Amino acid sequence: MKYRIRLATKDDAQAVHDIYGAYVPLDYVTFTVDNPDVEAYRQKIINTLEKYPFLVAEDEDGKILGYTYGSPLRPHDAYQWNVEWTIVLAPDAPRRQGIASALYKEFAGILEKQGYRYVYGVLVDTNEASIALHKSLGFCEVGHFENAGFKLGAWRGIRWMVKQIGTLEGEPGKPLKLSEVLYKDAIH
Ligand SMILES: CC(C)(COP(=O)(O)OP(=O)(O)OC[C@H]1O[C@@H](n2cnc3c(N)ncnc32)[C@H](O)[C@@H]1OP(=O)(O)O)[C@@H](O)C(=O)NCCC(=O)NCCS
Repeated sequence: MKYRIRLATKDDAQAVHDIYGAYVPLDYVTFTVDNPDVEAYRQKIINTLEKYPFLVAEDEDGKILGYTYGSPLRPHDAYQWNVEWTIVLAPDAPRRQGIASALYKEFAGILEKQGYRYVYGVLVDTNEASIALHKSLGFCEVGHFENAGFKLGAWRGIRWMVKQIGTLEGEPGKPLKLSEVLYKDAIH
């Protein structure tokens, strides 16, 4: 299957809303209980693109196969070189074809240019596919928080996984804005 990876625009909000909405009713993908509305996703895309990549993989017919974006790990200033990574494929997008890995590669490449140092994954501890994906990309588990959330009648745990993407030598400059970094679409 041919697809293109490009920066998201606010017009992708409906697709992102619908894709995420398919996983909200499940117990092993997300702790979100109520899917936000399309306008909230539109704002999320706009706000994210100021500081972090928000990428989509799109097939030849313009259908969104999946998306990925970054968000702050913690709000305090000294955490600013860390990025929390979200990756989601559409429920009917082909699996084990490398789409998530390709999205990660583009995502991490941009983060490196911006000057970020660590990427974190925060996963429901029963999400075997996601745990395997993170491991295959070189992430290491650094924390297992049992009973971190309550959803669908049970307490559920999360795993934190991390991958270093930048050097720790010297004093870090403030990460660049996304607009200060050039990105060219990737064709697969
Ligand atoms: C998790 C998810 C993003 C993986 O996407 P994908 O495009 O199928 O992943 P890739 O093809 O890039 O997989 C790369 C490697 O990860 C591992 N992996 C991915 N899915 C796996 C699975 N279901 N079982 C075992 N290993 C898996 C494998 O090592 C795989 O390499 P291989 O196929 O050569 O063995 C996708 O299944 C998905 O969107 N799931 C629903 C949403 C979700 O859980 N998102 C993550 C929230 S934390």
